[in-house]
Amino acid sequence: MKPFLSVNEIHSGYDGVPVVHGVSLEVFRGEMVCIIGANGAGKTTTMRTICGLLHPEKGTVRFKDQDISRLPASRTIRRGISYVPEGRRLFPKLSVSENLSLGAFIEKDKREIVRREEEVLTLFPVLRQRANQKAETLSGGEQQMLAIARGMMSRPELLMLDEMSLGLMPSLVEKVMETIVQVNAEGTTVLLVEQMVQEALEISHRGYVLQTGRIVQSGSAKELMKSDEVRKAYMGM
Ligand SMILES: Nc1ncnc2c1ncn2[C@@H]1O[C@H](COP(=O)(O)OP(=O)(O)O)[C@@H](O)[C@H]1O
Ligand SMILES: [Mg+2]
Repeated sequence: MKPFLSVNEIHSGYDGVPVVHGVSLEVFRGEMVCIIGANGAGKTTTMRTICGLLHPEKGTVRFKDQDISRLPASRTIRRGISYVPEGRRLFPKLSVSENLSLGAFIEKDKREIVRREEEVLTLFPVLRQRANQKAETLSGGEQQMLAIARGMMSRPELLMLDEMSLGLMPSLVEKVMETIVQVNAEGTTVLLVEQMVQEALEISHRGYVLQTGRIVQSGSAKELMKSDEVRKAYMGM
């Protein structure tokens, strides 16, 4: 089976300062894969390079057997990749419903947008009774749900989630993770980045450990959870 997404030896960074040094990873259709690593390891930079917000200086990103390394994010979203950035980036003064519609900006058919909104509100019921509220009036957990829901509005085949647990209390982290499990079970391939290593491994099929811009370990989520290195470095054991 060919990988759905394959990242091959990418090098990327900012203004000539390298941050990611030859990262390779693969995601197969239907999988949930996580990239774990400490703050500053290059997780966000890797995600941004995959979705086209940054371009690799060397190496390639292939999605559905095509090279997307040079495509901007405005094009990779049309190919089926949706990136939910770290920090949510909602439009605080716009309503929940308006934030959702913006997630479907590539779709011009109004009725189709309404259909999709209905779908995501079914998946994220907490947002339904808040549809007309401004995003800034939502709790942290609801805002994270909205960010993910907005990411789903383009009907992605690959959903990329950057630190969705950041700033949430543990009960909400669990809730958000459960929703992602459901999204994945319904057929969306998921690539997620997390500092909450235990939680991420519990819901993922496989994982990669990123350390100062390099993959230092990879394997099934079960293997990684048992690994002494992972437990010591990221689970405080
Ligand atoms: N926009 C930027 N400009 C310059 N350096 C950056 C920028 N974003 C991140 N970096 C640097 O790249 C490194 C990796 O950052 P990042 O990919 O955000 O890590 P992570 O998501 O794993 O915390 C850090 O040293 C950070 O300071
Ligand atoms: Mg980050």
